[in-house]
Amino acid sequence: MVGNNIDPGFDPTVLEGVVGGPAGHIPVMLNEVLSTLQPASNKLIVDGTFGAGGYSRAILEKGANVLAIDRDPNAQSTGMKFLQKYDEKFQFHIGEFGQMDVICKQAGYDTVDGVVLDIGVSSMQIDEAERGFSFQKDGPLDMRMGQSGLSASDVVNGADGKDLTRIIGILGEERHAGRVSRAIVARRDKKPITRTLELAQLVENTLGRKFSDRIHPATRTFQALRIFVNRELEQLANGLFAAERILKASGRLVVVTFHSLEDRIVKRFFADRCGHKGGSRHLPQLEALQPCFRQERSGPLKAGLEEAELNPRARSAKLRWAIRTDAGARDVDLSLFGAEVSLSLSGRI
Ligand SMILES: C[S@@+](CC[C@H](N)C(=O)[O-])C[C@H]1O[C@@H](n2cnc3c(N)ncnc32)[C@H](O)[C@@H]1O
Repeated sequence: MVGNNIDPGFDPTVLEGVVGGPAGHIPVMLNEVLSTLQPASNKLIVDGTFGAGGYSRAILEKGANVLAIDRDPNAQSTGMKFLQKYDEKFQFHIGEFGQMDVICKQAGYDTVDGVVLDIGVSSMQIDEAERGFSFQKDGPLDMRMGQSGLSASDVVNGADGKDLTRIIGILGEERHAGRVSRAIVARRDKKPITRTLELAQLVENTLGRKFSDRIHPATRTFQALRIFVNRELEQLANGLFAAERILKASGRLVVVTFHSLEDRIVKRFFADRCGHKGGSRHLPQLEALQPCFRQERSGPLKAGLEEAELNPRARSAKLRWAIRTDAGARDVDLSLFGAEVSLSLSGRI
């Protein structure tokens, strides 16, 4: 995908020493992240999605301090290695970026200079069959980044059929969600569905697969379950609100997303927070608000051709960023976004 980048040429040297982590996660749009986030000595940056530490390492190498967060306990071992190398310039916290302001305050910081979020799963999570994210490797139907709470198997075997249709239709943008959900219900009535390949095969048998299909027929169903199980859209929305509360004036918020549901949330958030109107569309506007962010460009940056060739994950990436003003943080308002952000089950599992 050709992007309108600040730095049009992809500089592969930026990856030196950062392609790493247990399964070789390549950080996406790292050049653009660095040029928009502007890490420098004496700045404190929150990396809300530490993963294999690709962004954190590059930010630390620019001389900034990093407070890293990841909800996945497996990220801790990489975090420990960073602690050994970067000492007091680096901190690692297991937690959710939707709580980043609370985490920062508990660590003694009232404000920070920058926040970066790289939304979604890491290559390590996908590559490890036991985590249950992949429809190409057999593993338990799990998909929990944080390794607690409802698993994908709980949802597939316990949710009401109508809820499954909504989840797969809305979060997977699957046109045939009803057919997939009916097939799931018919199968689970005989025996619970517990393995990733079992579900992938069931979806493929239900929807069929043409030679010309670009993606596996189970892609959308797996995406939907992953987003639902990890409350990813709600986390993203709360992460943006939390960043607004913790960023100092002139601080920078940089967000990389990988599909339209996520990008729309970031776009709507910035449109609201950069404007004077603000607030819920459902409430009367009482007074003009001061914008709490400003954008130097409204459209997203995309990965350049060279990076997209090197890293397939980069092909769908979009980066949006904005600069915090000195206006006070506004109230949390999930009505800025579509109903998909707070999609929930109609009953208990
Ligand atoms: C795409 S990877 C980040 C890769 C990282 N930028 C790098 O260069 O290595 C996303 C990471 O964010 C974590 N994550 C996803 N949602 C999260 C959330 N709400 N709070 C904290 N961590 C989250 C995942 O566990 C995963 O490790």
